Amino acid sequence: MVAKSLEVRPLAETFGAEVVGVTLSRDMDADVFNEIKALWLRYEVLLFRDQQIEKEDLIEFSRRIGPLEIHLREEWLNKTHPELLQITNIRENGKPTGALADGEVGWHFDQIYLPKPAIASLLYSVKIPPAGGGTHFADMTAAYARLPRHLKDVVDGRTAIQSYVAFNRMYSTDTNAKQKNLTPDIVHPLVRTHPYSGRRALYVCPGMTIKINGLPEDESRSVLDELFAWTAREEFIYRHDWRVSDAILWDNACTMHRRDDFDGEHERLMLRTTILPQPDRAIPF
Ligand code: OGA
Ligand code: MN
Repeated sequence: MVAKSLEVRPLAETFGAEVVGVTLSRDMDADVFNEIKALWLRYEVLLFRDQQIEKEDLIEFSRRIGPLEIHLREEWLNKTHPELLQITNIRENGKPTGALADGEVGWHFDQIYLPKPAIASLLYSVKIPPAGGGTHFADMTAAYARLPRHLKDVVDGRTAIQSYVAFNRMYSTDTNAKQKNLTPDIVHPLVRTHPYSGRRALYVCPGMTIKINGLPEDESRSVLDELFAWTAREEFIYRHDWRVSDAILWDNACTMHRRDDFDGEHERLMLRTTILPQPDRAIPF
């Protein structure tokens, strides 16, 4: 039997799509799964509304995209399902039970600070505040394709330094000694070739990129500022206003994201899986 094509509604000019009428269940059939995977590669960010699913569904669906990472911030993992990282401002006994609290979170790629960063993340909303806390995505494939010549000439063939320490200082909390050992500053290409689609995308973000290698400090700073202003242009952005039971699957090789702050009087709870690439293409190139 040939599967009926899924209904898709584009979310923004260059990327992003809502996939209508599917449930991300652990036993989704292979035809539907393959179509979703192809849509994810094509659209980079996929939205699924009204997902009445369980933790096991999030985990098993994600595992079909790629092996799962147990996030190194073990203090923020779900207690019964460590494949899920909690993103929340909810505290227990005065302690955070998840990452990122209620503040603004600047543009970043998940795990750009690791030697083998995640290829995808799946974020699921359990509890949403009445206002704020929107998540913005930027299409770095389009941002690269439309990059002005003078910037293309600088970024092509170069590398940059990515820093989790810098991100935590601005938007999160410090890591412990063991976590710090796993996350020294690291070098990745400034333009990344997608390991599956082969498309090229800018791999640079205000939240974690601190220096372009091979340029004097002041020149590196001014090129980074130009790149950050360019990639934050409206034409490359999709902003998502969350409803409870939304799930968003995004591509961490070619999109970055940021989050608006919200009133800490309200609780927000999201669960995230972190999905790794095939081992032989895991180091950004
Ligand atoms: C993440 C993240 C943004 C949000 O889960 O990786 O950056 O909207 N979250 O909570
Ligand atoms: Mn993130």
